Amino acid sequence: MTMASSGSPSILGSIDLLMGRPTLRLQGARELAAASQTILLQSQASGRALTYGTDHGDDSIREHVAVWLSRKYRPASGPISLDRVILTNGAAGALAGVLQKFTDPAYTRRMFLVEPTYFLAIQTFFDAGLGRKMQGVPEDDEGIDLEFLRRRLEEEESRALDRTALDVDFTTKLPSHGYRKLYKYALYVVPTLSNPSGKTMSLHHRRALVELARQFDILLIADDVYDFLAWPDDDNLSHKDLELPPRLVDIDREMAGASEWGNTVSNGSFSKLMAPGLRVGWCEATPSFIRSISTYGPTASGGCPSQYTSFLIDHLLKSGTLERHVQDTLIPTYRRRYNVLVDAIKTHLYPLGIRISAGNPYETYTADKTGNRVPTTLAGGFFLYVDFPKDASFPLVTDIIRFGSDEFSLRIAPGEIFAVRGDPEGLLRASRTFNKGTRLCWAWHEEEDLVRGMAKLAEAIERARAVSI
Ligand SMILES: Cc1ncc(COP(=O)(O)O)c(C=O)c1O
Repeated sequence: MTMASSGSPSILGSIDLLMGRPTLRLQGARELAAASQTILLQSQASGRALTYGTDHGDDSIREHVAVWLSRKYRPASGPISLDRVILTNGAAGALAGVLQKFTDPAYTRRMFLVEPTYFLAIQTFFDAGLGRKMQGVPEDDEGIDLEFLRRRLEEEESRALDRTALDVDFTTKLPSHGYRKLYKYALYVVPTLSNPSGKTMSLHHRRALVELARQFDILLIADDVYDFLAWPDDDNLSHKDLELPPRLVDIDREMAGASEWGNTVSNGSFSKLMAPGLRVGWCEATPSFIRSISTYGPTASGGCPSQYTSFLIDHLLKSGTLERHVQDTLIPTYRRRYNVLVDAIKTHLYPLGIRISAGNPYETYTADKTGNRVPTTLAGGFFLYVDFPKDASFPLVTDIIRFGSDEFSLRIAPGEIFAVRGDPEGLLRASRTFNKGTRLCWAWHEEEDLVRGMAKLAEAIERARAVSI
């Protein structure tokens, strides 16, 4: 396999295995410069792009995003209409708004997070006042341990029955103040190509999770930010016709018995498809849910929080530039790096007993060279997780991290950052499972640096082993 060499972000030979963002050269600067030029030099477009936006974002952009999403996901229940879409300032910003509008620390009984979890989201749950309500739910090989979740829900329901007997209304967010729907529970998950585990939830678990959400009044908040960076695991098959897993929001729409508010929101982002600094994304949910998000305080005051950048994205969507960037640059680059990384793991880490923690492959379909629909499994995203051996002779993770940093200029993601802070049992579970391992990312480093990184990691482990004997 040849190795791309330009634009590696490694500084003075250091390798950062914690970094989870695209290499700077992949950020579509030229495409954005051209889009900015076009928007800013057209007086009508620039006027609209630079003033306060409407609360949902510009209707024509919502329409284009809805059409694009319909083409990408091919939802079984038909095309996505514009009233199901709101433009946001990215998945992180939208998460804060969703929690503010639909949860209440005094009413919402539990905030579940699938663990290992996307660590940078955790502060947002604390900020929403849900810190004491946070509860980790382990991932299993199909994406979430549903039995664990059900048990916790049943325990919580019986505790809630005792409280109801006291006849106290705990709600602080009133319908008259713009909170027409509060959920009793919320659950945060990255169902497809997860950060950090790289796993994809099975279709069975997706359906069962939506059913559980309806039964217990749970809002499923899905960060669907890696979906469009998927490819077939089989290198002989092109990524272009890959059928994507239905999102939780698609299943909620398709399954009989959907409610006005629904039980899912899909949090999408252009950060991974063009550039994170744009801070632009979208949410998809039922029209009532979307209308409610549009009344979030900062939006009610300032309008669409990504007004200007949403116009840039719209230009790139309409011209086909965004799709070309994803299909012809991002996916082929990431796919090559992923293969190189997996080979390097096998060369340098397998001999030490380290293994890739893959979960069950997600079975889907794509087209072969002759256009026939053929089965395949899904790969992609930014991350995979490796498990260290559990035996006591393997060095301590803290020592590996220390030697990596001090002697090999290597930054390693400590597994414990993916634990659900706020849930003491979560920390305990992490110490028995994913804390003995680390997340690896192929989005930031070029191929040769990924190989060097795995060699350095193996050396850091050997150094830590030498001092522990
Ligand atoms: C799972 C997940 N959600 C959200 C984000 C942040 O997305 P955005 O840049 O759109 O706020 C990231 C970025 O790493 C992520 O991995």
